[in-house]
Amino acid sequence: MDRQPAGEAGEGQREGAVEEGNAGGMRQKERMKRRQEGDDEEVLSTKKQMTDHGVKVASHYNSLQEVGLAVRSRSRIFFMRNFNNWLKSVLIGEILEQVQLEGTRHISVLDLGCGKGGDLLKWRRGGISQLVCADIAAVSVEQCQSRYEEMKKKSRINEKIFTAQFITTDCAKEVLSEKLDGPELMFDVCSCQFVYHYSFESEQKADMMLRNACERLKPGGFFIGTTPDAFELVKRLEASDSLSFGNEIFKVTFQSKGSYPLFGCQYHFSLEDVVNVPEFLVYFPLLEHMAKRYNMRLVLKQRFSEFFEKKVKNEHHRSLMMKMMALEPFPCEDQSQPDTDSSGEYSHAKEHYSRAEVKVPLGTLSRSEWEAASIYLVFVFQKMPRG
Ligand SMILES: C[S@@+](CC[C@H](N)C(=O)[O-])C[C@H]1O[C@@H](n2cnc3c(N)ncnc32)[C@H](O)[C@@H]1O
Repeated sequence: MDRQPAGEAGEGQREGAVEEGNAGGMRQKERMKRRQEGDDEEVLSTKKQMTDHGVKVASHYNSLQEVGLAVRSRSRIFFMRNFNNWLKSVLIGEILEQVQLEGTRHISVLDLGCGKGGDLLKWRRGGISQLVCADIAAVSVEQCQSRYEEMKKKSRINEKIFTAQFITTDCAKEVLSEKLDGPELMFDVCSCQFVYHYSFESEQKADMMLRNACERLKPGGFFIGTTPDAFELVKRLEASDSLSFGNEIFKVTFQSKGSYPLFGCQYHFSLEDVVNVPEFLVYFPLLEHMAKRYNMRLVLKQRFSEFFEKKVKNEHHRSLMMKMMALEPFPCEDQSQPDTDSSGEYSHAKEHYSRAEVKVPLGTLSRSEWEAASIYLVFVFQKMPRG
């Protein structure tokens, strides 16, 4: 980066060589000054592009390949991904039920950071009428839109699929409401799944994301989501003797420890070949405080572990869990498989299974998968009626 201005100054000197007399010298100085200022701006803007995490995040997600079930099922995080998906299904299902119970017949939803449309089926199952999908990654938005078109094509003749709009934009920088097809459109739910932490780079970005999530919510509407728990991340970092922690499937690396700024506290997160990007700590009490600006009240904040323990007691959620293969059967259904648990990935399940009263096959996650999944929390905010 230093080389460029040095090269440009050299060019300026060559130009100066054809100037004559003092006036020429003055003009030369003036021009060199202007050129230098221009160069500084250019360097600044290049630097900005290089450090604009939005660009990194978009290009990371744009480059991710969609893989089929066969490949996915061989992944070491197959069950964890299903588990996360189950957890989102339960959260989304319960919130939509609540909105319906309150008498809303035409439900409108904003999927903020929709990705490739992993939640489209959940919106269909929930019987919503209208969906807006927004994401910073153009390729993901295109894939989300084709998945939606495919879903519509394959739907039953008398099934009414929700209408949808797809927007590619940086939701931490741009005002989303200006891009909506319906200028009066208001949402019953905004869902922000595994996204919010990208915006905690600065106060402006975190606030813009929050504004986009909440400003078009109807009174009584919900802002729901999932994000890493900053307390858990910092606890694990402090317990580590380096700047990293993790296991064979995920790794979190901070730049320093001991002091954690409220915004811009960056860490690098990698998870198998799914995620490999910089993220930012979301100090939840601060988010809760900021949300008050948009008349939002926190109604639920739960670690994944707590949420799971509560929801798994419900028969309906349990059977969905089986259908979605959200847990790995234990003992392994394939009895011909040798016991390869030399690293103790399943010792917790073994111990549980050995208890006399447990006789049914269990569902579990490997220790590594659970260590990754248990970083996250679920949140639900609700918009208060204007007082
Ligand atoms: C882990 S993926 C989650 C996708 C989807 N919500 C899901 O649960 O399957 C995170 C998504 O957030 C999007 N994202 C990150 N920063 C964003 C921003 N500033 N504006 C809009 N989308 C953003 C990424 O492009 C990516 O699609």
